[in-house]
Amino acid sequence: MKHIKYLTIMLITIFLSLSAFCLAEEAIKLPDSPMNGLTIFLEKRCIKCHSLQSDEKTFGPDLIRSLKNDDIFQIYGKLWSHSPQMFKYMEKKDISHPIFKRDEMKAVLDFLYFLNFFTEKGDVESGRAFFTNSICSKCHAIGRHGKRDGISLDKYKIYMSPIYLATSLWNHGLDMKFQLSARKYGWPELKGADLSSLSQFIVDFATEMDTRRVYSLSGSPVKGKMVFEDIGCLSCHKKNVYYDKRQKSALDIASDMWKGGPKMWTAMKSGGMKIPEFTADEFVDLVAYLYFINYPGREGDEDSGKEVFDNNCSRCHDNGPGPVLKEIRGRHDYLDLMTTMWNHSEDMLNVAKEKGVTWPRFLGHDMNDLLKFLVTKDNR
Ligand code: HEC
Ligand code: HEC
Ligand code: HEC
Ligand code: HEC
Repeated sequence: MKHIKYLTIMLITIFLSLSAFCLAEEAIKLPDSPMNGLTIFLEKRCIKCHSLQSDEKTFGPDLIRSLKNDDIFQIYGKLWSHSPQMFKYMEKKDISHPIFKRDEMKAVLDFLYFLNFFTEKGDVESGRAFFTNSICSKCHAIGRHGKRDGISLDKYKIYMSPIYLATSLWNHGLDMKFQLSARKYGWPELKGADLSSLSQFIVDFATEMDTRRVYSLSGSPVKGKMVFEDIGCLSCHKKNVYYDKRQKSALDIASDMWKGGPKMWTAMKSGGMKIPEFTADEFVDLVAYLYFINYPGREGDEDSGKEVFDNNCSRCHDNGPGPVLKEIRGRHDYLDLMTTMWNHSEDMLNVAKEKGVTWPRFLGHDMNDLLKFLVTKDNR
């Protein structure tokens, strides 16, 4: 009995220290399916003022453009900074201040980060031009276009997402490389927009009996990270390949994989590594993970965070209507703070108006630093 009790205590201690470690390790977790946030975006009626079609004029700013390259804290910072204007317009449109649960806040922020993942539009005409002018048509056929008796790409007609084509390009890349070298062709250049257009050209012009339609895959950064680590991408790329680079769309990342293919395959072979083949699911997950590199931002800076707090919050929180800092600091995790701050923002705004206080605006890493300061226990 005594042993069991001892063991239980041991296990609980280990569990607690592990969970504390996990919290310290990642301020905010990579999402499993960032697309889920779309539901919240619709439910909270964000869509009323923010179109997700960048060429459609709406009331609020184009979020696809304005949130590009932002990490999750920068996105939240913008959301917060612009809330007074938003509330004003919401009032006009009879939309009440949206209140979020913790999960909902996470989901909507994940979704906002994800907005630049599938941005290429592509079009059938460009797809036709790309196919007929590129060397792809020297070996392949699409419907009645391209090489007679060439290897047909018509079976890709059933796929509504270019990710399937991109996956196959990787999987068959090495064989194509041999064929290309045998004919002294260079390695074909491919951009994200080409993949999108080519895929649409196939959908419109291929002759295929199969009438199924397979729709988009959205990608899971969590699963992608596992693929990245399991396959051993880390043996050559020390970190996520896009570390410290600007955000790229899914199809641009897929084209980079194609561009880097020949060098990678050579390096993999000489390292005795099996060249991985992917299912479309694995491939889009991998690409989603590469895309999510910038998601957690850089590590927040406590001292700068204190400054942000002193400049923007303390006038209400240390000697004013809001709870004192001691009651806030070290008591919430990141997501709790983000949710509570947002849910309280309308009340805060009313107090700000009454007292003639200007609403804080967060630039750069301000929000990240502020939150880091607030989640950290005061040990001084
Ligand atoms: C009634 C219209 C309206 C609704 C509903 C609305 N917004 Fe806005 N939003 C705006 C306007 C207008 C601005 C620009 C405000 C300004 O210029 O300060 C804005 C700005 C933003 C920004 C900052 C963009 C930037 O360029 O910095 C984000 C992020 C944002 N909204 C997200 C959301 C989310 C998420 C929702 C749903 C919870 C939402 N909005 C609902 C009208 C709206
Ligand atoms: C020199 C000839 C050649 C060129 C040029 C070429 N391919 Fe291929 N391609 C092949 C061969 C051969 C295969 C079959 C390889 C295999 O079975 O692994 C193939 C396979 C494919 C597949 C998979 C087909 C399937 O059955 O699933 C796709 C998709 C593809 N190519 C697309 C392209 C695109 C897009 C281009 C232009 C950027 C291109 N190929 C250029 C020879 C070529
Ligand atoms: C054996 C070594 C090796 C492995 C393993 C490897 N790569 Fe690479 N990778 C390279 C080399 C070499 C390049 C070409 C770099 C260059 O062109 O400068 C490259 C290029 C890339 C590029 C293009 C980068 C750019 O900016 O254009 C991407 C994306 C990429 N790799 C992703 C991956 C992923 C994902 C995995 C795991 C599935 C992986 N790599 C595994 C060696 C490797
Ligand atoms: C104009 C005054 C004012 C400003 C400026 C202000 N707050 Fe508040 N804050 C309040 C008031 C009042 C409440 C209590 C609202 C309520 O209970 O509904 C509050 C509540 C909160 C809460 C919830 C506390 C809890 O545990 O429930 C947090 C967190 C918070 N504020 C953080 C901040 C941060 C961070 C800033 C600076 C960016 C800030 N506030 C700026 C007035 C303000």
